[in-house]
Amino acid sequence: LAGSAAVAAIGAFGLPVGAQTTAAPAASGAFASLGVPHVRRDGAEKARGGAKFAAEYSYPGMVYGALVYSTIARGTITSLETAEAEAAPGVVLVMTHENAPRLERPEPFYSSPTGMAGSSTPVMQDAEVLWNGQPVAVVLASTQEEADHAATLINVAYEEADAVTSFDVAAESAQTSFYAGRDLLIEEGDAEAALADAEVSVDLSFNTPAHNHNQIEPHAVTVLWKDGILRMHDCSQGVDLSAITIAKVFGISSAEVHLSAEYVGGGFGGKTVWQYHILAAAASQLADRPVRMSLTREGVFRICGARAPTRQRVALGSDRKGRLTSLIHTGTTMKIENNSMTEPFFEQSEHMYRADNMHLEIRAGTMDMLANTFMRAPGAATGTFTLEVALDELAERLAIDPIELRVRNEPDVNPTTGREHSQRASVDAYREGARRFGWVPRSGQRQGYREGEWQVGTGMAAAYYPYKRFPGGAARITLDREGGALIETAAADMGMGTTTATAAVASERLGIPYDAIEVRHGDNTLPGALIAAASQQTAAIGASLTAAHEVLLAELASLVPATSPLHGLPAAELGTAEGALYSLADPHQRIPLIDLVAWSESGTVSAEGQGGPISEWTQDWSMHSTGAVFTEVRVNSVTGEIRVPHITAIYDCGKILNSKLAESQFRGGIIMALGMTLMEGASFDERNGRVMNPSFGSYYMPTHLDVPHIDVGWTDIPDPQAPTGARGIGEIGMSGPAAAISNAIYDATGKRARDLPIRLDALM
Ligand code: MOS
Repeated sequence: LAGSAAVAAIGAFGLPVGAQTTAAPAASGAFASLGVPHVRRDGAEKARGGAKFAAEYSYPGMVYGALVYSTIARGTITSLETAEAEAAPGVVLVMTHENAPRLERPEPFYSSPTGMAGSSTPVMQDAEVLWNGQPVAVVLASTQEEADHAATLINVAYEEADAVTSFDVAAESAQTSFYAGRDLLIEEGDAEAALADAEVSVDLSFNTPAHNHNQIEPHAVTVLWKDGILRMHDCSQGVDLSAITIAKVFGISSAEVHLSAEYVGGGFGGKTVWQYHILAAAASQLADRPVRMSLTREGVFRICGARAPTRQRVALGSDRKGRLTSLIHTGTTMKIENNSMTEPFFEQSEHMYRADNMHLEIRAGTMDMLANTFMRAPGAATGTFTLEVALDELAERLAIDPIELRVRNEPDVNPTTGREHSQRASVDAYREGARRFGWVPRSGQRQGYREGEWQVGTGMAAAYYPYKRFPGGAARITLDREGGALIETAAADMGMGTTTATAAVASERLGIPYDAIEVRHGDNTLPGALIAAASQQTAAIGASLTAAHEVLLAELASLVPATSPLHGLPAAELGTAEGALYSLADPHQRIPLIDLVAWSESGTVSAEGQGGPISEWTQDWSMHSTGAVFTEVRVNSVTGEIRVPHITAIYDCGKILNSKLAESQFRGGIIMALGMTLMEGASFDERNGRVMNPSFGSYYMPTHLDVPHIDVGWTDIPDPQAPTGARGIGEIGMSGPAAAISNAIYDATGKRARDLPIRLDALM
């Protein structure tokens, strides 16, 4: 299944554990594709600069958009002076709520099965302002510079209203919230009483700030209305849902929107539908000109949503042997009135450890702010930080090694649902990570030591992300006369290698060489309504291809000539391999696919299948990915400077479909988590709700020099309930490093860091 024994480490079940050096294919020959570290299909085109992103399409007569953002959090626009801007060089249009076309409110996530907008806040329809940064005017001009200049000439006067712009104030009236169709409250037994009675306990408070999306490609769209079609070149992570959502705003059918995003420069949950899409399309309609709207970095901070801040309490009670008797994970976050996305930071606490009594609850306060939204590993990113720091503190009090404490609480079945795990090898991941990192077991004593000015320590934490599958998966397979196949699916590739993984899955399933598979994606005219989110897109494509293959077998069966021994066999008794249709009962009986295609009337054979939603696959099973993250940390005792020289992480995510892409996903998640842990945080002026650091000059992110050596591996045990054996890998890297680093900082310095980001002033 994985790398060759010569270079692969061996996991606890005797299965090979992949590593950065263990990328050998499972089988030789052109027909083995899964597990092969194919390079990204779009890599060369990106390196050459040939890949076209949303802001790189041009049309004759195209004009450029600039936005004016409100400077108050809530209130009413009393006057808009636009004459000077309208008279400025190159200006084609100034659009405000006074002349904007009448539009429906966008459908946000969870308000309908296709809602893709960050909020349902009206888009420039009236004088009301609902957040500091809300667009109040659009300028279109012949060049970007002219548009930007004219935008500065617009004067807006407001009548301010009271606004909730302080998280403290919002928290006072927070209510038990909901997420993805369920209330964020789970109670089993009496967790408070069990905590009070526990032989050993910890009761801790944590704070995490808002995190802004900073994809390498800032949000952009190029828009053209032509022949009754709204054509949009976008950077969406879900082209169909974006098109449907935008169509509804304009009161047109989704067939009248053609939205594509062949290349997306990073998504992470933020490349959904925000006001700029609608404003660009509305202004384009009003001016009757193609429009390119490319947000500045500041624009992304002002109008595209962020991960919400949280305040969390984690209290753990256990007996002297470390068996959890009480697990309390509660806290507060924020949302806005016009969305339904509550940061679900207790999700890992439902599934990671067995505890006799549990109380999990998330309350949300409503603020007059930019909509909060999804960001890589929603909930688990900050929720794992708090849970896993609390476990470390409990382990210390118990004088039990942190890994041993986790092993003692490893559940046999899902702790909250009681369902059996489809596949779970968390303990293997802990043990393999410890071995590769060189973990020194500890029992209540810090292992940290000093090297000159530097205090050196080590720490570990578990990682977690659920398996999900959204509805809308579909794919079409078309066989050609040359023995190749075209795969069409409306999936998004945000840079993680979707087309590469899809080609490998299709190659394996069809028995057609990898290089003979072409993949078309990222266009709402293709089959399906997939979304690259929740680490589920690859699994959804795999399920779609499986379904399409079944239809294809029936098509091929109908083309088998009467003289063939395969004649009359039903699809269920046929398979495809090595470029041929064959009998499952007698694999020597086969017909080349090119012959079957040649005998077809149209000269191609095509089949489409739907992947189906998660419930078909997971209703009887507990399906979750886990992992273990180990870090070394060095803290300078004079300056407080924190360095992370080394991270090891082992993941249990089912089968790994492409080791090269997987390493990249895991490392990328870990680097993003490093930013969350040590650097990132949006700062707000609480008097008026304005983001104070909307640029890389003041919102810090890791650079290459901040990134340590990262050693990643995986158990590579296929999940028997997942269509390709793979559970998904996009987000779990974001879960675990923050706690591992905080725990290592404690090991180095004796100081517990429970608030993010952990900057040097926290350790002085
Ligand atoms: Mo991810 S935050 O589900 O795009």
